[in-house]
Amino acid sequence: MHDLVSVQQLSLDDINYFMKLSQAFKKGAQVKLQQPVYAMNLFFENSTRTHTSFEMAQRRLGIQVLQFVPQASSILKGESLLDTVKTIQAIGVNLAVIRHPQNQYYQPLLDAHLQLSIANGGDGSGQHPSQSLLDLLTIKEEFGHFQGLKVGIVGDLAHSRVARSNAEILTKLNAQVYFSGPQEWFATDLQQYGTYCPIDQLIEQVDVLMLLRVQHERFDSSEEKGFQAQDYYQQYGLTPQRLASLPAQAIIMHPAPVNRGVEIAADLVECPQSRIFQQMHNGVFVRMAIVSTLLSSQGLIATQELKELVK
Ligand code: CP
Repeated sequence: MHDLVSVQQLSLDDINYFMKLSQAFKKGAQVKLQQPVYAMNLFFENSTRTHTSFEMAQRRLGIQVLQFVPQASSILKGESLLDTVKTIQAIGVNLAVIRHPQNQYYQPLLDAHLQLSIANGGDGSGQHPSQSLLDLLTIKEEFGHFQGLKVGIVGDLAHSRVARSNAEILTKLNAQVYFSGPQEWFATDLQQYGTYCPIDQLIEQVDVLMLLRVQHERFDSSEEKGFQAQDYYQQYGLTPQRLASLPAQAIIMHPAPVNRGVEIAADLVECPQSRIFQQMHNGVFVRMAIVSTLLSSQGLIATQELKELVK
């Protein structure tokens, strides 16, 4: 695998491989770089978790990380993303992790058949494949499987790349996906993956309650004007009363950042059923698996070494 841009490209074998490789890194596995390797993380949207954990993963693998500041780059002089990526490749960068507000920003980069590998750190409301894999690892650690698990994805379904990539990958794994939150946010492209269920019915039956952040940065002015945080919390948020209806074995997930007191009561972010910080912790190991796999396609890490780790 030379690039990872979407969960669509992942077969069941690929997912199983990434779970095993992430678990190996979590247990402390090391791999050897065949030569000095350089990575650059180009984030055109804000990020704490994805940016930091990709950089942590790269550093743990011994990769040298070059800084990129969009506001200080020649993008502001009109250079295209493709020319920027070709430039960093010419300078010697082997891997670019990119987050960009435009859906499928990566297509022209893939069409250019670059030598450098691309990892998608999130494109608009499109895909967030590394988040999906870390979410899968968190679920697998809890239940050991995905088959038949009831997963409720709740919240800002209209704008969420996490909803899209998770719904797709979870249905591929035969989990049962349901959606909830404001019904007008239940986007038509999600309907192929599961049905809408009112929050109070859904919460009683899920194994995984996956809350989504309300994404104000993607609201238009009328959506922003019409949004009342307190109303949202009362109608769709995880309140202490709703938590009481959640089955005892169920876990609570959220890709974060969390709007405390909006998607979930502030005090419940760290409640015993929450795996929100576990998701972030797992992100480092999943991103080590992604980075090492992409580099192995360029011969920068021996493929055999990774195969040994997933046996
Ligand atoms: N979950 C996630 O993508 O978080 P960041 O925006 O902080 O990277």
